[in-house]
Amino acid sequence: PGRAAAAPDLAGRHVVISAGGTREPLDPVRFLGNRSSGKQGYALARTAVARGARVTLIAANTALADPAGADVVRVGTALQLREAVLKAAADADAVVMAAAVADFRPAAYADGKIKKQDGRDPDPVTLVRNPDVLAEISAERAREGQVVVGFAAETDDVLDNGRAKLRRKGCDLLVVNEVGVGKTFGSEENEAVILASDGSEVQVPHGPKEVLADVIWDQVAPRLTHPGG
Ligand code: CTP
Ligand code: CA
Repeated sequence: PGRAAAAPDLAGRHVVISAGGTREPLDPVRFLGNRSSGKQGYALARTAVARGARVTLIAANTALADPAGADVVRVGTALQLREAVLKAAADADAVVMAAAVADFRPAAYADGKIKKQDGRDPDPVTLVRNPDVLAEISAERAREGQVVVGFAAETDDVLDNGRAKLRRKGCDLLVVNEVGVGKTFGSEENEAVILASDGSEVQVPHGPKEVLADVIWDQVAPRLTHPGG
Protein backbone atom coordinates (compact mmCIF):
# COMPACT_ATOMS: atom_id res chain seq x y z
CA PRO A 1 0.00 0.00 0.00
CA GLY A 2 1.03 3.65 -0.03
CA ARG A 3 3.40 4.69 -2.76
CA ALA A 4 6.06 2.06 -3.27
CA ALA A 5 8.21 4.36 -5.38
CA ALA A 6 7.71 7.48 -3.26
CA ALA A 7 10.30 10.18 -3.69
CA PRO A 8 12.40 10.36 -0.50
CA ASP A 9 11.02 13.83 0.21
CA LEU A 10 11.57 13.38 3.97
CA ALA A 11 15.23 12.33 3.64
CA GLY A 12 17.39 14.04 6.26
CA ARG A 13 14.31 14.94 8.30
CA HIS A 14 13.50 13.86 11.84
CA VAL A 15 9.79 13.36 12.42
CA VAL A 16 8.11 12.58 15.73
CA ILE A 17 4.76 10.80 15.79
CA SER A 18 2.63 10.01 18.83
CA ALA A 19 0.23 7.09 18.50
CA GLY A 20 -2.26 5.09 20.54
CA GLY A 21 -4.16 6.22 23.59
CA THR A 22 -3.02 7.16 27.06
CA ARG A 23 -4.18 5.30 30.17
CA GLU A 24 -4.62 7.15 33.43
CA PRO A 25 -4.36 4.83 36.44
CA LEU A 26 -6.86 4.79 39.31
CA ASP A 27 -5.14 1.99 41.21
CA PRO A 28 -2.68 -0.80 40.31
CA VAL A 29 -5.29 -2.69 38.27
CA ARG A 30 -7.58 0.00 36.79
CA PHE A 31 -7.30 2.94 34.47
CA LEU A 32 -9.29 5.48 32.46
CA GLY A 33 -8.58 4.92 28.80
CA ASN A 34 -9.89 5.40 25.28
CA ARG A 35 -10.49 3.41 22.10
CA SER A 36 -7.51 4.53 20.04
CA SER A 37 -5.70 1.55 18.47
CA GLY A 38 -2.68 3.47 17.23
CA LYS A 39 -3.13 2.26 13.64
CA GLN A 40 -3.15 5.74 12.08
CA GLY A 41 0.02 6.76 13.94
CA TYR A 42 1.77 3.52 12.95
CA ALA A 43 0.77 4.09 9.31
CA LEU A 44 2.30 7.57 9.58
CA ALA A 45 5.51 6.04 10.95
CA ARG A 46 5.77 3.42 8.19
CA THR A 47 5.11 5.92 5.40
CA ALA A 48 7.59 8.42 6.86
CA VAL A 49 10.30 5.73 6.96
CA ALA A 50 9.45 4.87 3.33
CA ARG A 51 9.88 8.55 2.42
CA GLY A 52 13.34 8.67 3.97
CA ALA A 53 12.71 10.23 7.40
CA ARG A 54 14.30 9.37 10.70
CA VAL A 55 11.24 8.47 12.74
CA THR A 56 10.61 8.55 16.48
CA LEU A 57 7.31 6.88 17.34
CA ILE A 58 5.94 7.61 20.81
CA ALA A 59 3.57 4.69 21.37
CA ALA A 60 0.93 4.80 24.10
CA ASN A 61 -0.53 1.38 24.97
CA THR A 62 -0.51 -0.03 21.47
CA ALA A 63 -0.51 -3.73 20.49
CA LEU A 64 0.92 -3.40 16.98
CA ALA A 65 4.15 -4.57 15.35
CA ASP A 66 7.00 -2.05 15.62
CA PRO A 67 7.40 -0.24 12.28
CA ALA A 68 10.71 -1.33 10.75
CA GLY A 69 13.31 1.41 10.88
CA ALA A 70 11.56 3.61 13.47
CA ASP A 71 12.73 4.31 17.03
CA VAL A 72 9.84 3.32 19.29
CA VAL A 73 9.42 4.89 22.74
CA ARG A 74 6.69 3.32 24.89
CA VAL A 75 4.62 5.42 27.28
CA GLY A 76 1.52 4.89 29.41
CA THR A 77 0.07 8.11 30.74
CA ALA A 78 -0.44 11.58 29.29
CA LEU A 79 2.29 12.97 31.53
CA GLN A 80 4.74 10.32 30.28
CA LEU A 81 3.71 11.00 26.69
CA ARG A 82 4.31 14.74 27.19
CA GLU A 83 7.86 14.08 28.50
CA ALA A 84 8.70 11.76 25.61
CA VAL A 85 7.27 14.05 22.92
CA LEU A 86 8.98 17.18 24.26
CA LYS A 87 12.32 15.35 24.43
CA ALA A 88 12.07 13.95 20.89
CA ALA A 89 10.71 17.23 19.49
CA ALA A 90 13.84 19.15 20.50
CA ASP A 91 15.49 18.41 17.12
CA ALA A 92 12.41 17.43 15.09
CA ASP A 93 11.43 18.91 11.74
CA ALA A 94 7.83 17.80 12.22
CA VAL A 95 5.70 16.56 15.10
CA VAL A 96 2.46 14.71 14.45
CA MET A 97 0.14 14.18 17.41
CA ALA A 98 -1.93 11.19 16.34
CA ALA A 99 -2.29 9.87 19.91
CA ALA A 100 -5.53 10.18 21.82
CA VAL A 101 -4.31 11.95 24.95
CA ALA A 102 -6.58 11.80 28.00
CA ASP A 103 -7.86 15.28 28.82
CA PHE A 104 -8.21 14.34 32.48
CA ARG A 105 -6.58 11.99 34.96
CA PRO A 106 -7.75 10.82 38.39
CA ALA A 107 -6.68 13.37 41.01
CA ALA A 108 -5.52 10.59 43.30
CA TYR A 109 -3.84 7.25 42.69
CA ALA A 110 -4.61 4.49 45.19
CA ASP A 111 -1.46 2.46 45.95
CA GLY A 112 -3.60 -0.56 46.75
CA LYS A 113 -6.54 -1.97 44.81
CA ILE A 114 -9.76 -0.09 45.54
CA LYS A 115 -12.14 -2.53 47.32
CA LYS A 116 -15.93 -2.59 47.63
CA GLN A 117 -17.29 -1.72 51.04
CA ASP A 118 -20.37 -3.45 52.44
CA GLY A 119 -23.58 -1.55 51.72
CA ARG A 120 -21.81 1.65 50.66
CA ASP A 121 -21.76 3.44 47.35
CA PRO A 122 -18.28 4.10 45.98
CA ASP A 123 -16.51 7.39 46.48
CA PRO A 124 -16.75 9.62 43.39
CA VAL A 125 -13.68 9.79 41.17
CA THR A 126 -12.25 13.31 41.05
CA LEU A 127 -10.45 14.23 37.84
CA VAL A 128 -7.88 16.91 37.09
CA ARG A 129 -6.77 18.34 33.73
CA ASN A 130 -3.80 16.94 31.85
CA PRO A 131 -1.48 19.33 30.00
CA ASP A 132 -2.31 19.94 26.33
CA VAL A 133 0.79 18.63 24.58
CA LEU A 134 -0.23 19.76 21.09
CA ALA A 135 -0.88 23.35 22.23
CA GLU A 136 2.41 23.36 24.12
CA ILE A 137 4.60 22.17 21.24
CA SER A 138 2.74 24.49 18.83
CA ALA A 139 3.48 27.48 21.08
CA GLU A 140 7.10 26.51 21.76
CA ARG A 141 8.38 25.29 18.35
CA ALA A 142 11.55 23.74 19.74
CA ARG A 143 13.11 24.22 16.31
CA GLU A 144 12.47 27.12 13.95
CA GLY A 145 10.14 26.18 11.11
CA GLN A 146 9.01 22.99 12.88
CA VAL A 147 5.73 21.76 11.37
CA VAL A 148 3.16 20.68 13.96
CA VAL A 149 0.19 18.48 13.06
CA GLY A 150 -2.78 17.65 15.28
CA PHE A 151 -5.71 15.28 14.97
CA ALA A 152 -9.28 15.91 15.97
CA ALA A 153 -12.06 13.40 16.37
CA GLU A 154 -15.45 15.05 16.26
CA THR A 155 -18.99 13.71 16.34
CA ASP A 156 -20.93 16.92 15.51
CA ASP A 157 -20.36 20.11 13.49
CA VAL A 158 -17.15 18.46 12.33
CA LEU A 159 -15.75 21.27 10.16
CA ASP A 160 -16.72 24.18 12.42
CA ASN A 161 -15.30 22.43 15.46
CA GLY A 162 -12.18 21.53 13.47
CA ARG A 163 -11.53 25.09 12.32
CA ALA A 164 -11.97 26.43 15.85
CA LYS A 165 -9.69 23.72 17.24
CA LEU A 166 -6.97 24.49 14.67
CA ARG A 167 -6.93 28.12 15.82
CA ARG A 168 -7.08 27.23 19.51
CA LYS A 169 -4.22 24.72 19.31
CA GLY A 170 -1.98 26.89 17.13
CA CYS A 171 -0.79 23.97 14.99
CA ASP A 172 -0.09 24.15 11.23
CA LEU A 173 -2.31 21.27 10.16
CA LEU A 174 -5.28 19.58 11.79
CA VAL A 175 -6.53 16.23 10.52
CA VAL A 176 -10.23 16.06 11.35
CA ASN A 177 -12.20 12.81 11.32
CA GLU A 178 -15.78 12.19 12.11
CA VAL A 179 -16.12 9.51 14.76
CA GLY A 180 -19.07 7.30 15.55
CA VAL A 181 -20.03 3.68 15.91
CA GLY A 182 -17.74 1.58 13.68
CA LYS A 183 -15.96 4.65 12.36
CA THR A 184 -12.26 5.24 12.83
CA PHE A 185 -11.51 3.48 16.13
CA GLY A 186 -9.75 0.16 15.53
CA SER A 187 -10.71 0.29 11.87
CA GLU A 188 -8.23 -0.15 9.00
CA GLU A 189 -9.72 2.78 7.16
CA ASN A 190 -10.27 6.43 7.74
CA GLU A 191 -11.78 9.48 6.09
CA ALA A 192 -10.70 12.99 6.93
CA VAL A 193 -10.31 16.60 6.02
CA ILE A 194 -6.93 18.23 6.57
CA LEU A 195 -7.28 21.86 7.65
CA ALA A 196 -4.26 24.15 7.39
CA SER A 197 -3.54 27.38 9.26
CA ASP A 198 -3.06 29.06 5.84
CA GLY A 199 -6.74 28.32 5.12
CA SER A 200 -6.33 25.38 2.74
CA GLU A 201 -8.62 22.37 3.23
CA VAL A 202 -7.87 18.99 1.69
CA GLN A 203 -10.63 16.37 1.64
CA VAL A 204 -9.33 12.80 1.86
CA PRO A 205 -11.89 10.19 0.77
CA HIS A 206 -12.61 7.06 2.79
CA GLY A 207 -9.69 4.68 2.37
CA PRO A 208 -6.76 2.90 4.03
CA LYS A 209 -5.02 4.70 6.92
CA GLU A 210 -1.78 4.25 4.93
CA VAL A 211 -3.19 6.41 2.12
CA LEU A 212 -4.32 9.14 4.55
CA ALA A 213 -0.83 8.99 6.09
CA ASP A 214 0.79 9.65 2.70
CA VAL A 215 -1.58 12.57 2.03
CA ILE A 216 -0.62 14.04 5.42
CA TRP A 217 3.10 13.81 4.51
CA ASP A 218 2.24 15.38 1.13
CA GLN A 219 0.92 18.36 3.13
CA VAL A 220 3.81 18.41 5.61
CA ALA A 221 6.73 18.10 3.15
CA PRO A 222 6.27 21.43 1.29
CA ARG A 223 5.86 23.24 4.63
CA LEU A 224 9.31 22.12 5.88
CA THR A 225 11.20 25.36 5.49
CA HIS A 226 14.00 24.57 7.93
CA PRO A 227 17.08 23.44 5.95
CA GLY A 228 17.06 19.63 5.92
CA GLY A 229 19.94 17.37 6.91
N1 CTP B 1 -3.98 16.55 22.59
C1 CTP B 1 -2.84 16.78 23.33
N2 CTP B 1 -2.91 16.85 24.69
C2 CTP B 1 -4.10 16.71 25.33
C3 CTP B 1 -5.27 16.48 24.59
C4 CTP B 1 -5.18 16.41 23.21
O1 CTP B 1 -1.76 16.91 22.76
N3 CTP B 1 -4.13 16.78 26.65
C5 CTP B 1 -3.88 16.52 21.13
C6 CTP B 1 -4.26 15.21 20.46
O2 CTP B 1 -3.13 14.38 20.31
C7 CTP B 1 -4.80 15.67 19.12
C8 CTP B 1 -5.34 17.05 19.40
O3 CTP B 1 -4.75 17.47 20.64
O4 CTP B 1 -3.76 15.81 18.17
C9 CTP B 1 -6.80 17.21 19.47
O5 CTP B 1 -7.35 16.37 20.45
P1 CTP B 1 -8.87 16.55 20.83
O6 CTP B 1 -9.20 15.62 21.94
O7 CTP B 1 -9.70 16.50 19.58
O8 CTP B 1 -8.87 18.09 21.32
P2 CTP B 1 -9.22 18.75 22.68
O9 CTP B 1 -8.57 20.10 22.68
O10 CTP B 1 -8.88 17.86 23.81
O11 CTP B 1 -10.76 18.99 22.59
P3 CTP B 1 -12.05 18.15 23.11
O12 CTP B 1 -12.57 18.94 24.25
O13 CTP B 1 -12.94 18.15 21.87
O14 CTP B 1 -11.59 16.76 23.49
CA1 CA C 1 -9.62 15.69 24.07
